[in-house]
Amino acid sequence: MKATVLHGDCASLLDQQNTAWGHVDLTFLDPPFNQDKGYNEWDDNMPEAQYWRWMGDVCKKIYHRTTSGGAIYFMQREKKTESVLRCLRESGWTFQNLIIWKKKTSAVPGMHRFGKHYQIIAFATKGERPRVFHRLRINPPLPAGYKYERENGMFLTDVWDDIRELTSGYFAGDEALRDVEGNRLHKQQTPIQLLLRIILSSTNPGDIVLDPFSGSGTTLVVAEQLGRESIGVELDKVNVKIIEERLAEQREADDISNLFKDYECTPDLETIWGRTKSRTAVTPTQGKLFESNPNRI
Ligand SMILES: C[S@@+](CC[C@H](N)C(=O)[O-])C[C@H]1O[C@@H](n2cnc3c(N)ncnc32)[C@H](O)[C@@H]1O
Repeated sequence: MKATVLHGDCASLLDQQNTAWGHVDLTFLDPPFNQDKGYNEWDDNMPEAQYWRWMGDVCKKIYHRTTSGGAIYFMQREKKTESVLRCLRESGWTFQNLIIWKKKTSAVPGMHRFGKHYQIIAFATKGERPRVFHRLRINPPLPAGYKYERENGMFLTDVWDDIRELTSGYFAGDEALRDVEGNRLHKQQTPIQLLLRIILSSTNPGDIVLDPFSGSGTTLVVAEQLGRESIGVELDKVNVKIIEERLAEQREADDISNLFKDYECTPDLETIWGRTKSRTAVTPTQGKLFESNPNRI
């Protein structure tokens, strides 16, 4: 399935009459959080009001590119919930859920407030009703004290506590892209499990998925395997190269097929998943930025 990677500023590219931007069915919005992180080509320390004006502008432009009933998932720090919801509302989006992503990692202790244990993902649509919403079923371990086994899993709720963040150290596992010295290539790399859940919930095979802040290309890598078209924009040319290599290489750690079983209680899963033939690894190019897994598929 086609994955298009564009190098540049997403706000400017969203304005261009590029044919690749015909329409968009789903956007995953994971922008820099304005936390003074060391991005190569971006000032991550803007005055707060300027940052939210910029986010509002991006959300408006995405809205205009989105099909009726199309969806956006906007990820941010829990502290910024109010600004996220306002930004979406003012740019035309209809709020659906505030997803709590509790990341299976330790809480960040707070001196003057409770420890921080989750991140938010605001799910909104263009219009009152989503064009596509698949009610996925999962079957997580029973909480302590539950007496009866479930017969057929449970519907997903707005609390996602079964997906681990790719933190530093061994927790990040093989999925984290690393250079030859083992350093992470993109510190904000999102787990494939998170994109799998979002894309499965809000699209059908053949739909178009947009990631305006693509980073290491997680959205495109997952969309491609699910038979969805994707468009990724990234400002940093090193990241663009990482995305292109990641798409070409098809690493074992990026293979979503093992995650099929997590949703097997979902009716019509084969159809929603849009299973394509298994992936075939290609020969890695010379001068690659990241280390391949020893066990490529
Ligand atoms: C939080 S990261 C996204 C991580 C991504 N979800 C992943 O899985 O790797 C934000 C990314 O946006 C990029 N970026 C910053 N400003 C941008 C802009 N104006 N247009 C496009 N990309 C931008 C940064 O270089 C960074 O890679």
